Amino acid sequence: MKITVVGAGAVGATCADNIARKELASELVLLDIKEGFAEGKAQDMMQTAALLGFDTRISGSTNDYSKTANSDVVVITSGLPRKPGMTREELIGTNAGIVKGVCENLLKHSPNAIIIVISNPMDTMTYLALQSTGLPKHRIIGMGGTLDSARFKYQLSTTLNCSPADLNALVVGGHGDTTMIPLIKHATWNSIPVTKFLNAEQQEKIIADTMVGGATLTKLLGTSAWYAPGAAGAALVESIVRDEKKLFTCCVSLNGEYGQNDICLGVPVVIGKNGWEQIVEMDLSADEQAAFNKSADAVRSMNDVLKTL
Ligand code: 2OP
Repeated sequence: MKITVVGAGAVGATCADNIARKELASELVLLDIKEGFAEGKAQDMMQTAALLGFDTRISGSTNDYSKTANSDVVVITSGLPRKPGMTREELIGTNAGIVKGVCENLLKHSPNAIIIVISNPMDTMTYLALQSTGLPKHRIIGMGGTLDSARFKYQLSTTLNCSPADLNALVVGGHGDTTMIPLIKHATWNSIPVTKFLNAEQQEKIIADTMVGGATLTKLLGTSAWYAPGAAGAALVESIVRDEKKLFTCCVSLNGEYGQNDICLGVPVVIGKNGWEQIVEMDLSADEQAAFNKSADAVRSMNDVLKTL
């Protein structure tokens, strides 16, 4: 198994580190445009192998895509991260060109790869990757909802004072501060609805804190977060390479599912060796469906910006 992570910044490096520790690949390539940067990160990570006991060979490459040849899975983290006060949407002009170029270069050397998109604005970058590569839709997966659902579980677990691992909770819709939809009515604590334990005010706060989860960290850190985004990317890689068929919210191409077409948006999907293998349709309430449609409208107008670039 060979995996490539494009972008050796904080998110890419964390994702690679998780992939190595979990021994998801025999070969892992980290690629970046900054001279020597990916090589340095790869060497640093390799020097943890003797300490952590993993058996993945990590190498770095400065923009030489031939080193990524025959990758089974690639994770794209390239592009500018958010600065405090910035929305993910503001990155579209710069990151669209970067992501398109990265996809072209990757596919020249790894025509069969499954692509995981992390770059922001993630919904539009996933749509762009699908449109520009023409790959079968199952091979393009946007990571956003996986991260947002993990953040939702974090917020629930701190209020409920329970283990995040005991929670089932999904965030669907876009990966934006105003477009994501934490589905609190469907969330359970080991099958018991969480709403049984939370008053209306607590529920509203959990939803609001989840939605600005990324922005809160950007403000605290001065740049966007990396531990949870990197771990979310690696969790998707794991479900693919181990064919786990785990259910995650991911941004995928919708063709009538959830009433939407010609868009990539976050919905529950099964992730296995073929990429996303199935969209799971939930029974959304009228309010939830209306929120989903509104989220789709916002993402669609962001996608329209691509036509103007
Ligand atoms: C975040 O929400 C990087 O979009 C990512 O932190």
